[in-house]
Amino acid sequence: MDSFLYKIGLVSTAIIGVKIFGMLFNFLYDTLIAPALHLQKIDWDSLGKWAVVTGSTDGIGKAYAESLAKKGFNIVLISRSENKLEAVANEIRRYKVETKTISVDFTEPDSIYHEIDKQLAPLEIGVLVNNVGMSYSYPEYFLDTPDAMAFYKNLINCNIVSVTNMCKIVMPGMVERKCGVVINIASVAALIPNPMLTVYAASKAYVLKFSADLATEYSKDGLVIQCTTPGYVATNLSKIRSSSWMAPSPTTYVENALKTVGVSESTTGYFPHSLLSSAVHGIENVSVRLARWLITRTMQNIRGRALKRVTQSN
Ligand SMILES: NC(=O)c1ccc[n+]([C@@H]2O[C@H](COP(=O)([O-])OP(=O)(O)OC[C@H]3O[C@@H](n4cnc5c(N)ncnc54)[C@H](OP(=O)(O)O)[C@@H]3O)[C@@H](O)[C@H]2O)c1
Repeated sequence: MDSFLYKIGLVSTAIIGVKIFGMLFNFLYDTLIAPALHLQKIDWDSLGKWAVVTGSTDGIGKAYAESLAKKGFNIVLISRSENKLEAVANEIRRYKVETKTISVDFTEPDSIYHEIDKQLAPLEIGVLVNNVGMSYSYPEYFLDTPDAMAFYKNLINCNIVSVTNMCKIVMPGMVERKCGVVINIASVAALIPNPMLTVYAASKAYVLKFSADLATEYSKDGLVIQCTTPGYVATNLSKIRSSSWMAPSPTTYVENALKTVGVSESTTGYFPHSLLSSAVHGIENVSVRLARWLITRTMQNIRGRALKRVTQSN
């Protein structure tokens, strides 16, 4: 009996060892080895003339628009504010590419997509970056979020409906030409516990799952569909003003993330963010409760500080 248990123990340990080695290798390959060795399968020059970026006048979206313009793509910028769109289009034209701007509010569910479809129809689109997204102004309990029903509806339209409809509009042309890259920006919130940003995190989990199954469906048509799951990036949305190793500038983040296109279908896009997500998963492996408790405490602290600032400013 003892020797039987010993053998079971040995086999289990070997299986866990192989699993950990596999995870570690995939992690290092996606985030360090493949980008360092430039093992990308993407031929950017042959994809098509235009790249479309939603939420492209600030932060991560603006950085994608600039990086893709540097690669020679003409850029369609889509955001709300016409002034910001014009300013960014002017900046981008210094890369000697054409630009087109579309001013829409992605919290609107229906009519905007007829307008977007009409404007994009004549263009040969090689890259679509579904970047637009909104989050809470501060972490809050699901039932206590101010004006909750309207806020959740807007968030779902902006984070989920936009990604689904933009793919529906742009992908037929890519399928017809048998090439194209779609990059959907989710968040590390989709991978780890994220209480008190619950609807945001759930919306990003949709983007992750949608992207994975879509990638499987359309790989036969030559499409590369990637989902990135960034941690903190120094932007208006994160309210982080100065960049750091853990919260890079949008430009640094996008430079790193673009190196993973064609290498990894699902990635944080930035090595320190992969470390963060692995650290949380490591804690979850020891105790899911401990991981949830630690993140809940962090969220409660951020909420407390935000509410204090609101009280002080009133
Ligand atoms: N920053 C982070 O730490 C972080 C981490 C993980 C994931 N992400 C994800 O990355 C994406 C980009 O975030 P970011 O931090 O770069 O945001 P950001 O700096 O706030 O920029 C948001 C962009 O989207 C546009 N926009 C916002 N709401 C819009 C709406 N309703 N309709 C149309 N355009 C809209 C904004 O321009 P206008 O105001 O002119 O419309 C702006 O160009 C989001 O999907 C976010 O969830 C960010």
